[in-house]
Amino acid sequence: MLLTNKEILSEAMAKGYAVGHFNISNLESLLAITEAAVEEKSPVIIAITSSSIKYAGLEYLTAIVKTAEKSTSIPMSLHLDHGPDVETVSKCIDIGFTSVMIDGSHLNFEENISLTKHVVELAQPKGISVEAELGRLAGIEETTVEEKDAILTDPSAAKEFVERTGVDILAVAIGTSHGAYKFKAKPRLDFERLKTIRKMVKIPLVLHGASGVPSRLVEKAVKYGAAISEAKGIPDEDIKKAISLGIQKINIDTDLRLAFTSTVREILVTLPKEFDPRKILGPAKEAMKEIVKGKMQLFGSAFKAD
Ligand code: G3H
Ligand code: 13P
Ligand code: ZN
Repeated sequence: MLLTNKEILSEAMAKGYAVGHFNISNLESLLAITEAAVEEKSPVIIAITSSSIKYAGLEYLTAIVKTAEKSTSIPMSLHLDHGPDVETVSKCIDIGFTSVMIDGSHLNFEENISLTKHVVELAQPKGISVEAELGRLAGIEETTVEEKDAILTDPSAAKEFVERTGVDILAVAIGTSHGAYKFKAKPRLDFERLKTIRKMVKIPLVLHGASGVPSRLVEKAVKYGAAISEAKGIPDEDIKKAISLGIQKINIDTDLRLAFTSTVREILVTLPKEFDPRKILGPAKEAMKEIVKGKMQLFGSAFKAD
């Protein structure tokens, strides 16, 4: 069942859990996520970035998501992640996405408002929900209070942003960042800021850059040849705390990539005679599926699609 993120997240907000946003770029990642959602009976957000569109093609990716959606009754949305411009947003709306993000977080406040408002006016009349981002996704381990205030989401600005744009969903910056290297030493997130934003903003909130970078995946990847030993992510306890303080959507990509490629590495090293792609990518898909299932349990969305 294809729904909008607004529909999926309003339910999550009312019941106090979060829904996973998982990025896809090929058939294996879509199968892993859909199978996990069905097994966990969990609502799910399937996300596609413009670089994945460049990689696999908008028509191909949309077609496989629509096929998955028809084969299950799980609440699912098809979402543009980090939409870079109005042109990409329009193409995604025209082809059947139910949700789009316009990422104006690199712009100044007024420019971000005007770009977001433009997309809201384009998407909402067609029943498509819109996510925007305010603040910069960056680590705050070594920053001063002033630097932190300049980087992270300002609660009063968030309130004004939501009121002036009419956006449905807001991504906030509280110290998470994209990729596998989120912290040098200890994880540090600004939960007080999140608490204040939640008090001032009534729409669903999103945590980007939320991968856990589990040490067992890093160790497996390193064992079979990867050079990523310094990688560190967001601990599960911090994710639970963020949900308890009012996050409803959690974006995961890096952990899926790590699960997939560490398994590909393992198979190539341990089964050197193997050259059937299905025998290499199949187990990688299974490893990705296990990660997605774990996230659904952690976020509290498992069994919410019953
Ligand atoms: O923020 C989302 C992704 O993790 C980055 O994805 O490499 O498809 O642009 P990308
Ligand atoms: P990670 O790199 O932590 O998985 O974040 C993904 C993300 O925010 C996609 O929008
Ligand atoms: Zn992101």
